[in-house]
Amino acid sequence: MVTELKPGVYWVGVVDWALRRFHGVELSTHRGSAYNSYLIVDEKVALVDTVWSPFQDQLVENIRQVVDPAKIDYVVANHSEVDHSGALPAVMRAAPQATLVVSKRGLESVQGHYHQPWNFRAVGTGETISLGKNSLVFVEAPMLHWPDSMFTYLTGLNILMPNDAFGQHYATDFRFNDEVNQEELYEEALKYYVNILTPFSHLVTKKIEEVVALKLPVDLICPSHGVLWRRDPLQIVHRYLEWAAQKPEPRAVILYDTMWNGTLRLAEAIGDGLAAEGVPHKLIYAAGTDRNDALVEVFKARTLVLGCPTMNNGLLPSIEPFLGEIKGLKFKNKIGAAFGCYGWSGESVKLLEHHLEECKIPIIRPGLRAKWQPGPADLEAARAFGREIALATKKPLE
Ligand code: FEO
Repeated sequence: MVTELKPGVYWVGVVDWALRRFHGVELSTHRGSAYNSYLIVDEKVALVDTVWSPFQDQLVENIRQVVDPAKIDYVVANHSEVDHSGALPAVMRAAPQATLVVSKRGLESVQGHYHQPWNFRAVGTGETISLGKNSLVFVEAPMLHWPDSMFTYLTGLNILMPNDAFGQHYATDFRFNDEVNQEELYEEALKYYVNILTPFSHLVTKKIEEVVALKLPVDLICPSHGVLWRRDPLQIVHRYLEWAAQKPEPRAVILYDTMWNGTLRLAEAIGDGLAAEGVPHKLIYAAGTDRNDALVEVFKARTLVLGCPTMNNGLLPSIEPFLGEIKGLKFKNKIGAAFGCYGWSGESVKLLEHHLEECKIPIIRPGLRAKWQPGPADLEAARAFGREIALATKKPLE
């Protein structure tokens, strides 16, 4: 349903209630998503971002409820990933006179996706386009989260449209942050940050400082996914600064996989050792847990303890995708340790430690191994291992 956000500014996006996997199957989206598109009717008419192509007809129909799409003068593509640019062919057919405004890097990526002879205008940071009473101001935001990403700001009505930044994969009948369950909202905002933006945390901090220095008044932050930040809109900016600082809590995640529960027994005993020292922790079973949800727990915790038995001189296949993501997300300020059972050759603990080293996660102490099923001495050693990890976890971050 089209929503007027401010006089002459309309949300014309779509809600994708059924989406459960995003980026192919890479990211879980338990609560669906929304693709937000904003229509500004001033003396000139502008559309900021479109939607994913399966919803293109709905977008054009939404625009038509407000204005004849042929009257659109500018279509702004803040970012070329197809969840926002997919409807460009339909929109540009309906608005043949429109200029397609992109960032300098967007010129390459939008042309690369669509191969159309559209009337492009590439803009850089600080460039403006007057719409009449108000103007659009552009701020390039490379790596938030693609090289082509850009923020668009509407003067006069003080609306920041930062595309993917500050978004959430969250389908709801409500458009604003003050209308939804705050726990759900922040669960989705954090999951989005962790899984999409963590590797670029230093750029997040820099970009926010740069935008704050512009001293632009902000009444509304309108991301391209999820709800819009209306009540205390800068709250999400402050949260991003906290998340970007990557100061994890003194807690531990024991991420393990197991074949015949020997490694599980060790995980439980390590947990007992952590509990004895008063360190909160979670055991996460890799083979049975959503990877993106687990990564949020890893993000929050100071300590990552990896456990896996040895199979075929290597690791169990179900833990490998977790390890790949942990490396790619480039978590900071973590410490780690490894453990696992084995029957014959027993390489898994060394492999897990090698992985921690590759992730630049310092190892608290050499790994713990148990041959066959852990016996009482092995379990006692695991409890001691847990206590030692707890003491390191409790040390303040330098
Ligand atoms: Fe980077 Fe929402 O696409």
